[in-house]
Amino acid sequence: MNKIISTGHSNIAIVKYWGKHGKQLPMNPSLSMTLQNAKTETIIEWKTNNETKSTLGKFTFENKENKPFQERIAKYIDSIQAYIPALKGLELKISSSNSFPHSTGIASSASAYSALAQGLVHIEKSITGTISGNYKNEKVKTSFLARLGSGSAARSIYKGFSVWGKSDALNESSDTYAIPINNQVNPIFKKLHDAILIVSTDEKKVGSSLGHSLMNNNIYAKQRFSQARKNTVRLINILIQGNMPAFCDLVEEEALALHAMMMTSTPPYLLLAANTIKIINHIQEFRKSTGIPICFTLDAGANVHLLYHENNAAEVKDLIESQLKYFCQNDKWISDKIFF
Ligand code: DP6
Repeated sequence: MNKIISTGHSNIAIVKYWGKHGKQLPMNPSLSMTLQNAKTETIIEWKTNNETKSTLGKFTFENKENKPFQERIAKYIDSIQAYIPALKGLELKISSSNSFPHSTGIASSASAYSALAQGLVHIEKSITGTISGNYKNEKVKTSFLARLGSGSAARSIYKGFSVWGKSDALNESSDTYAIPINNQVNPIFKKLHDAILIVSTDEKKVGSSLGHSLMNNNIYAKQRFSQARKNTVRLINILIQGNMPAFCDLVEEEALALHAMMMTSTPPYLLLAANTIKIINHIQEFRKSTGIPICFTLDAGANVHLLYHENNAAEVKDLIESQLKYFCQNDKWISDKIFF
């Protein structure tokens, strides 16, 4: 059997993707930063199967068989053969594991599909010596394929900051793949840290797939998509200027707008926990009383991502250890930072 090992990093969105249409196309552009420590390592082994299509043999996650993941990945492999003809006639064996502990509530679809898409593109390259299709470069094809697995994975193909979805601010941006925007970003934002405060490790009451689909009938959807489009342009300017206080305002506006969409869906639902709100209040009070520009963002769950500049690492560690960790499940928090 041939073998390839690939790594996909997780990312945290600042402007959020929430709502999609067609074949994994976003209703608005999103902008995220890729994380250094939260990542997935995927090993793909392959041999010929004497069939006309590709088959998924064994699949393991964290060294254990996992039927729901296996079915989702088998479907995915099936769906992308049109884009990687070299996969036809191969049997794949895939094993995947995360750097972050299982059941921390950290979403892993971005890192998982980023690793998988990279591995599959490598297989194509090693078999045919080239990348098939009309893509600008290898990363664009990888991001395109990662998107088909999970929308947010499209952004994880790049280090630093990236944008997925057509934006007025970026001519080259696209709904079908993400692009990096690091050249324009002020150096102060290349030293961002993310403390992931694990408020709950419970399975989410409403998963992302259902959450996205509930946007179809949300009465505020149109305004939300317009807000996200404007915030993408606004954020790119803030990143260029190096304006940390303005960054904090936008980050929190986006986080709460995402959860406002959940609260106004039909049926409405709430993923914020009491401790999420306590942490948010502490972060905002800390910012007000010290003038240190730290801020929070949220995924589709109860955990809080506390964003801050490397220069404030000592003060933030003290804040977490003396106050915030008591609102976390088993005092658990994970230290991460932007991946460059
Ligand atoms: C709230 O990328 O997990 O994290 O495309 O259905 O796999 P699928 O959804 P997913 O949604 C992520 C939503 C989010 C915001 C974001 O990452 O932009």
